Amino acid sequence: MQRTPLIAANWKMNGSAALVEEMVDVLTALPLTEHAVVVCPPATLLTRFPAVCNFALGGQTLSHEISGAFTGELSACLLQEAGASYVIVGHSERRALNGESDELIAAKLARAVAAGLTPILCIGESATERQQEKTQQVLARQLDAVYASQPELLAKSVIAYEPIWAIGTGESATPEQAQTTHAFIRQHLARYNTQSAVRVKLLYGGSVNADNFTALFRQADIDGALVGGASLKPAEFAQICLAVT
Ligand code: G3P
Repeated sequence: MQRTPLIAANWKMNGSAALVEEMVDVLTALPLTEHAVVVCPPATLLTRFPAVCNFALGGQTLSHEISGAFTGELSACLLQEAGASYVIVGHSERRALNGESDELIAAKLARAVAAGLTPILCIGESATERQQEKTQQVLARQLDAVYASQPELLAKSVIAYEPIWAIGTGESATPEQAQTTHAFIRQHLARYNTQSAVRVKLLYGGSVNADNFTALFRQADIDGALVGGASLKPAEFAQICLAVT
């Protein structure tokens, strides 16, 4: 099964209108394959991107509600209207800093799909959980919370494996570690739907840069990356994008 690659940029709470311009200049000069790149800037910057360009846009989170008195929240429709076609769901920073539970993340993912956004579901274990050999248990719990009761959503999802110990630390998982875990994830996803498990894109995230990406991407079950810090450097991000083009 040939899965098309995807490189996603998560700017987190970084960036500026100036960075948008710089990134647009750099990326639009690349021969990007259609649907190969998605940039997820802070939501206030979404409308600063051209309405039509050679990459897609995404939000970094969304509300599980449709609309209403939820001060500070953003709905799937608002994100869409601002140009997003993807949305990151369940990033470990939101799980840890905003107390997002597995159940809430499942509801957000369902809301994203219902609105026509492609969710990028983030899962991953902490350093302690890895040391205690609980990686598979944690990932299975995070996946089951979303897909056990709504398996049909798998076909509409992208999944990003982001070990928490590798995020922003400069210590990426090795290609072998990442592949072993991605293979486990794909195998686990087959419980919900075997065809979707083969087709779903699995991204690796955690200290990805232009130097380590190629070896990661060579692994059988790694279909691309969710890039944080390196996605704020247009030239380096462009190199990562070119590796899948
Ligand atoms: O979502 C991307 C992220 O958490 C990885 O961040 O800076 O380690 O590439 P970084």
